[in-house]
Amino acid sequence: MAIRPVLRMGEPSLLAIAEPVADFDTPELHALIQDMQDTMEYMDGAGIAAPQIGVGLRVVIFGVGQNPRYPDADQVPYTILINPVLTPVSDLLEDGWEGCLSVPGMRGIVPRHTRLHYKGFDQFGNPIDRLVSGFHARVVQHECDHLDGILYPMRIQDLKNFGYTDVLFPDSDIADD
Ligand code: NI
Repeated sequence: MAIRPVLRMGEPSLLAIAEPVADFDTPELHALIQDMQDTMEYMDGAGIAAPQIGVGLRVVIFGVGQNPRYPDADQVPYTILINPVLTPVSDLLEDGWEGCLSVPGMRGIVPRHTRLHYKGFDQFGNPIDRLVSGFHARVVQHECDHLDGILYPMRIQDLKNFGYTDVLFPDSDIADD
């Protein structure tokens, strides 16, 4: 287990399409997930995708307990999601603030589908099939975007809604990444 460096926006590999995982329950896959978990915890993130630590595989992990970075957010169960397939349940989009470990110190308003059906597998190959909404749906869309080379600033519709966290929220104790 190891905390790995998180690649930052500008790194070409963050723009690549990640490859599906072919084999489940392997030592390599378990080691990757352990590193992602260690790195996410160390960085106090709500989620992380394998490409952010330089691994071009379709693996994301996410979960939010009481995270001071998202004080008003709903809790999201800790989830390991591999080869995800996302299907919006409605066309309804909702704006919300996002940050990213690959874009440290910044926040932006991003429209996301409010309700979403997602499928995939855990690290053992067990199927995952969920219908989610709100912040859970937002986190899944953000993390899975990383697998298609999309960083949240690319989805901001009005760049007036993009800036440095400590300037946007001067009275908050939100972490600066
Ligand atoms: Ni991110």
